[in-house]
Amino acid sequence: MSVKETLVKKLKDKNAKVAILGLGYVGLPLAVVFGEAGFQVTGIDPDKRKIAALAEGKSYIPDVKTETVEKLVKSGRLNATADFSVLKEMDAVSICVPTPLRQTGDPDMSYIISAMDELAKYMHKGMVVVLESTTYPGTTRELLLPKLGEENHLAVGEDWFLAFSPERVDPGREDFTTINTPKVMGGITEACGEVAAAWYEGAIKTVHRVSSAEAAEMSKLLENTFRMINIGLVNELAIMCERLGVDVWEVIDAAATKPFGFMKFTPGPGLGGHCIPIDPLYLSWKMKSFNYNARFIELASEINTNMPRYVVSRVMEGLNQRGKPLKGSKVLALGAAYKPDIDDVRESPSLDVIGLLRKKGAAVEYHDPYIPHIHHEYDGWQMDSVTDLMKSVREADAVVIVTNHKVYDYAAIVENAKFVFDARNATGKIAKGNPKVERL
Ligand SMILES: NC(=O)c1ccc[n+]([C@@H]2O[C@H](COP(=O)([O-])OP(=O)(O)OC[C@H]3O[C@@H](n4cnc5c(N)ncnc54)[C@H](O)[C@@H]3O)[C@@H](O)[C@H]2O)c1
Repeated sequence: MSVKETLVKKLKDKNAKVAILGLGYVGLPLAVVFGEAGFQVTGIDPDKRKIAALAEGKSYIPDVKTETVEKLVKSGRLNATADFSVLKEMDAVSICVPTPLRQTGDPDMSYIISAMDELAKYMHKGMVVVLESTTYPGTTRELLLPKLGEENHLAVGEDWFLAFSPERVDPGREDFTTINTPKVMGGITEACGEVAAAWYEGAIKTVHRVSSAEAAEMSKLLENTFRMINIGLVNELAIMCERLGVDVWEVIDAAATKPFGFMKFTPGPGLGGHCIPIDPLYLSWKMKSFNYNARFIELASEINTNMPRYVVSRVMEGLNQRGKPLKGSKVLALGAAYKPDIDDVRESPSLDVIGLLRKKGAAVEYHDPYIPHIHHEYDGWQMDSVTDLMKSVREADAVVIVTNHKVYDYAAIVENAKFVFDARNATGKIAKGNPKVERL
């Protein structure tokens, strides 16, 4: 049998040893899905706290239940280590490391490079490698292929197999998770795509194959750019509606009654999370090397990035109408997470809103049931969530709803507050005709 046939058989029989590099929001759920499908999975992560938690059978990702991890660890189907040398025994490796932006807005490829450098030391014949981290088109072929294959004198598509498959997980979502969200898979060669699909099909309901790694990389960027641009559009609509004196939320709900040709997006205080604010900029960065300006991305990014500033200006106006300057006023920000019901502050617009309010001299507090402490390293401030929510609501000159967590009792908040600025329409009907509430 050829290397490919032997590996495909091992993958189909679930005898292949699987490694997941990076056990975060993406890697841990993926490790669990492969483990539950019957593979023997080893998670590798330099973060010793994660390794220690998993050794005790504990989950640290809200979407993954501790019972599930415990069962897999006890049965020996999932183990975790910070020792990369175990890679020499692995057949199938998936890379799920972070791809943030540098402060200058350029891609920070350092995590992919360090994971790749470790993996390169242990590459051997009969391995399949899938990159899941969101990145610019060309990464798999231009960065991984030479380092993992050519430098090790391994022929891709014959001795080993390389593909890109973008992760699409939406943290906090229950109807679509890693197992039932279709997975796009694009190989460096046809054989690479076949082998990688044979592996993932053993655990994930639908694998959608495309003809190249680049098509798979680009499909992820299309999905996230589509969201970013549409959010930019409704954010600008919110600004226009305010000038026109029209309720933007009513307009969007009305448009959404059209059963075709319209998809509902909602405005807010700005983009957040590890994907939507970042991924499209990987594409625009790459296009600069082709002397091409990705204009839609740049325009939407400009509007979205300005939203925290717009929210602060609306809070300032609201206070002004109530005879108070922002400077010296007590402002309570509700929600620090970038979206409702999760514990993730990465790129959260809430941090920008809080930071801008602080800069303008407001006495700012925040509350978030999921985030007890914020440390903003770049701006050099930190804060604890207030513990007596209603006391802080009563004392604040302005309450700003930045994240619409479901656990909040919005009627009680409005009742007890002096002035509420709602950047998410969390107050909905309560806001209508209520002089205390202003919405985006
Ligand atoms: N979180 C999401 O909702 C989401 C959704 C779709 C795609 N993605 C993409 O998936 C990738 C991973 O995101 P995430 O949210 O899981 O990040 P994360 O920060 O939650 O997890 C990444 C993990 O990788 C580990 N790591 C860092 N360097 C490493 C190395 N050299 N070797 C092995 N592990 C290393 C970190 O310690 C961390 O545990 C990113 O490219 C992201 O854009 C994320």
